Amino acid sequence: MSQYRAVKGTRDILPGEISSWNYIEKVIHRVAGLYGFHEIRTPVFEYTELFQRSIGATTDIVGKEMFTFRPEEKGRSITLRPEMTAGVMRAFIQGNLAATSPVHKLYYIAELFRKERPQAGRQRQFSQFGAELIGVSSPEAVAEVIGMMMQVFVDLGLTGLRLRMNSLGDVKDRMHYIKALREYLEPHSALLDEHSRERLDKNPLRILDSKNPEIQAIIADAPKLHDFLGASAIDDFEKVLHYLDEKGLSYVIDPLLVRGLDYYCHTAFEVTSSELGAQDAIGGGGQYDGLAKQLGCKSDIPAVGFAVGLERLLITMEKQGLLAHAAPERPQVYVVLQSHELAAHAVGICDALRKSGIRSIMDLAGRSMKAQMREANKMRAAYALFVGQDEIQNQVFGLKNLVTSEQDFLSIQRIIERLEPLDESSQKTSDE
Ligand code: HAM
Repeated sequence: MSQYRAVKGTRDILPGEISSWNYIEKVIHRVAGLYGFHEIRTPVFEYTELFQRSIGATTDIVGKEMFTFRPEEKGRSITLRPEMTAGVMRAFIQGNLAATSPVHKLYYIAELFRKERPQAGRQRQFSQFGAELIGVSSPEAVAEVIGMMMQVFVDLGLTGLRLRMNSLGDVKDRMHYIKALREYLEPHSALLDEHSRERLDKNPLRILDSKNPEIQAIIADAPKLHDFLGASAIDDFEKVLHYLDEKGLSYVIDPLLVRGLDYYCHTAFEVTSSELGAQDAIGGGGQYDGLAKQLGCKSDIPAVGFAVGLERLLITMEKQGLLAHAAPERPQVYVVLQSHELAAHAVGICDALRKSGIRSIMDLAGRSMKAQMREANKMRAAYALFVGQDEIQNQVFGLKNLVTSEQDFLSIQRIIERLEPLDESSQKTSDE
């Protein structure tokens, strides 16, 4: 084996797996279209300040997980994007999208980079699909975004996911709460683990989602964020829950749900899968009404969004046996050569078939007819088309249906007429 290996925390997606990715992406594009979202693509790297300013300097992501570099010795620092929300908001502001419409619905499928310790479901390069609804974050908008995320899961056939909901209130509510939480936790600081002690200082909210049972016991009696929310925050959150009820989406209210990024306010949510072990969050999101202003906009631009980890989605789908829909594309015709000398004829036949939109394969390695037939069956080709001396002379070719074994003898023109071009719509998805 070669000494060259993919970097730890990254992985190749080989052709055997690509059909699963294509299948999932196709469902995402379809559902996003149904909800009126438009795709956005932003650069893989941004100036580091963008992430510091938006995700928050005291978060784990900014504190220790960013791949940051300086291309020019005295130039500005650059970071490989650890998430998409900041870059999408930057692009929204820079492209002055607000001038074209007050509300924009954007979605993406993108590669992200975080310097985390690699383990199952946690990579250093990973992919997300996500959506950002910018310009409004009314309860209807929040419910719409959650509804779209959940519809992707439903359309992919996933079951047993848990949607957790919480309200983080506005910045003022949260400041009051952080103060009270810190005051409660400080006397217990000797009992906290090192990680939580560090957080007590920088970001005490994150102690709430500690998985350490001893810390959870301390947290059980801590002041509750809900008690610090203003009346309008409670009212909005209740409206969101009401819309989720209307949509028939089940959820649990989790008062300890805080998210690992600082830009959130009001509604925050996360979806977990019991199929995933320690890294059980398949997706999450929430409102981020203050982000635009933080990035230099004169006024607040309300917004809400989510992102779902595609690797974790795939792991869950695999465990639930849902990847059978994702069969690789198969050739319609495998052109079988009686002998390699006839290759030039087969090239012409393949060209004619392909020009007519028929997916066609021929042997390029001079293999025996038996080996070619084995390959045709392995690739699950629909037909074998035989090319021999007699066929070329008579311009009539054997076309064998590889499922029924029925064989007809036809001209290339008749074969083209018989085989309909395989277009996009012939690829099965679960919604059909
Ligand atoms: P996040 O919770 O940091 O949110 O990431 C969303 C999802 O990305 C996670 O639930 C997980 O499935 C996946 N993910 C995160 N880190 C890794 C990793 N190292 N390896 C594999 N998968 C991972 C955000 O990124 C926010 N930008 C979501 C958002 C959009 N909020 C508002 N709009």
